Amino acid sequence: MKFFVDSADVDEIRELEETGLVDGVTTNPSLVAKTGRDFKEVVQEICAIVDGPVSAEVTATEADAMVEEGRNLAEIADNVTIKVPLTWDGLKACRALTQGGTMVNVTLCFSANQALLAAKAGATFISPFIGRLDDIGEDGMELIREIRTIYDNYEQLSTQILAASVRDETHVKQSAMAGADVATVPPKVLHALVKHPLTDKGLDAFLADWKSTGQSIL
Ligand code: E4P
Repeated sequence: MKFFVDSADVDEIRELEETGLVDGVTTNPSLVAKTGRDFKEVVQEICAIVDGPVSAEVTATEADAMVEEGRNLAEIADNVTIKVPLTWDGLKACRALTQGGTMVNVTLCFSANQALLAAKAGATFISPFIGRLDDIGEDGMELIREIRTIYDNYEQLSTQILAASVRDETHVKQSAMAGADVATVPPKVLHALVKHPLTDKGLDAFLADWKSTGQSIL
């Protein structure tokens, strides 16, 4: 499973990229607003750091305007992926942009039928929002499993499942188990993945025992 970083914070992204674990980045208007910075400048800087797909979301709501915004954003760098919402206009824009050779991430997906439509519209990625479904008492992970089953039933559907609205380590593990192609993960959750109390405890014990030998490797 690929890891995308779900952030518009350039410093956070740069730090994580150095681990070699970052396959791409997703931004959205809320994440950009949090930075207080110029949208295109942020996207340009992220694209210079990360080689993989970098999602930048359109804010128009009509298909023609979405396509115009998408083409404009796609000029920033070759790895820009245009994010469009899962509406009829978004699907029309998705079709036009992918036919023009631009990667498209169809966002705000909350049902398997929506995911089927996005795949038929040629989406590069579909973003089912796990956490927001959990928030309303539904099972976000079940949606990932449903989409995986549907896409696997039809080999001509090549859209990648991008698990989004990931809130914790369990979401990451379950997305991988359910066969999501990508999980877009907030930096704090990505950092938490490496942690286990027994790793820390074990390392402390190894280092203490090593010290007692009085040896040094170099
Ligand atoms: C990413 O593409 C989504 O915009 C993001 O994961 C949404 O996460 P949230 O539900 O925590 O805002």
